[in-house]
Amino acid sequence: MLRRLYHEQPESFAFTAANQAWAEAQMTKYPEGRQASAVIPLLWRAQEQEGWLSKPAIEAVADLLGMAYIRVLEVASFYFMFQLQPVGSVAHLQICGTTSCMICGAEDLISVCKEKIAERPHELSADGKFSWEEVECLGACANAPMAQIGKDYYEDLTAARLGEMIDEMARGEVPVPGPQNGRYAAEPLNGLTSLGEFDSGKTKYNASAQLATDLGDSIKRIDGTEVPLTTPWIGKDGKVAGRDAADPTPAAAERPKSAAQQAKKPAKKAPAKKAAPKAEKAAEGAAEVKEKAPRRMKAARKAGADDLKQLKGVGPKLEQTLNELGFYHFDQIAKWTEAEVAWVDSRLKFKGRITRDGWIEQAKILAEGGETEFSKKVSKGDVY
Ligand code: FES
Repeated sequence: MLRRLYHEQPESFAFTAANQAWAEAQMTKYPEGRQASAVIPLLWRAQEQEGWLSKPAIEAVADLLGMAYIRVLEVASFYFMFQLQPVGSVAHLQICGTTSCMICGAEDLISVCKEKIAERPHELSADGKFSWEEVECLGACANAPMAQIGKDYYEDLTAARLGEMIDEMARGEVPVPGPQNGRYAAEPLNGLTSLGEFDSGKTKYNASAQLATDLGDSIKRIDGTEVPLTTPWIGKDGKVAGRDAADPTPAAAERPKSAAQQAKKPAKKAPAKKAAPKAEKAAEGAAEVKEKAPRRMKAARKAGADDLKQLKGVGPKLEQTLNELGFYHFDQIAKWTEAEVAWVDSRLKFKGRITRDGWIEQAKILAEGGETEFSKKVSKGDVY
C-alpha cells in the first residue's frame, strides 16, 4: 500500500508544553547519542496530540532527536499505526478485516462505517468527526469481530452495536472498551467450562477495559493537561533511576542535565488522583463549545491588511483563508472569544491550531505594535 505524506499540510507543529516535557524525558531513557531510539514514542505522542502525523510534526520530532528528516519519515511511513492524513476530530475507527473477524462479521462493520462515516477508508465524515479504515489482525481474534478506536479495543461487535457506538461518540460519550456482548474477557459466552472458581467480580470490567475507563483518555487527543504524563524512570532528584551510578562515563555525567529540566515540571507520579466520573471526564474533551461568528470585515482597513503570517502557525495559505473569512487585522483576532475561536476553528482545515499555537496571545502583542520571537523571524525574512 502506498503511504506518503498528505497533499495538504499544516504550516507548523509544536508539542504542547506538557507533551514537550514528556518527549524530552523520553529521550533521557537512552544513552547519550542514542536519542533516536525515542523516535516511535515521540511520533506516537505527536499523533496522540494531533490525531495524525503531518510533515511539520515529523520534522519537529526529527529536530528534537537530531535525526535526518528522511529517517523519521521512513519510520512514520513504515508503521501502519501512524496516520499520515487527517483523521476524524472525534475518532478514527480501525476495523480488523482479517480471517477471524471477517468470518464473524467484519464486513458488516465496514458497511456501517461506509454508511455512517464515509464511503471510502481515510475519508472524513461530512461533519469531520469520524474516519475509518480496515486493518490487519489486531490480535484479539478470540473476541472477533473487533475494532480499535483510539488506543482501545472494542470487541465482540455487531453492526448494530457499532452503529450505536458511533452515535454515542458523536454525542461526546465514550463507550466502555472491551467486549460489547456482555463477556468479561474471552471466556465462553455461555459461561466458564473450566477454572470455574475464577472470580471476575473484583472489577466491573476486565483489567484493560477498567484501566481505559479509569484513565478516561480513550478517544481523546492527549495534550498532557488532563491525563498525567508519567516519567517514572526519573527520580525526585531529577536523575534517571539506576543509570548514572552504574555508568560513570563523562557522557553519563552530563545526562542529568536534561533529566534535571524534567524535575522542574512534569515528573509527576502516576495518576494518584482517581479519574472521577470517568465517562463524564472523557466526554468533556469531546463536548463542543457552542460556535459564535466573530465580527468580520468585508475588506482590510485603508492602511492595508496586517501581515497575519507573523502569527506562528499561520502561513500564506492560512492567511488567505482568514482574509476570505473576513479577518485582516491582529486586533480582530485578539478579541476572539472561546465561542468565536470555535466558529473559526470549524472553518479551518486543521482544527485546534488557534489555541495550540496561541494566536490570540500573539495577536494581542502584535496588535499593540509589539513583536514576538516568531514575528521577528518573519520580519527578517527568515520564514517566508
Ligand atoms: S482477526 Fe481480527 S483481531 Fe485477529
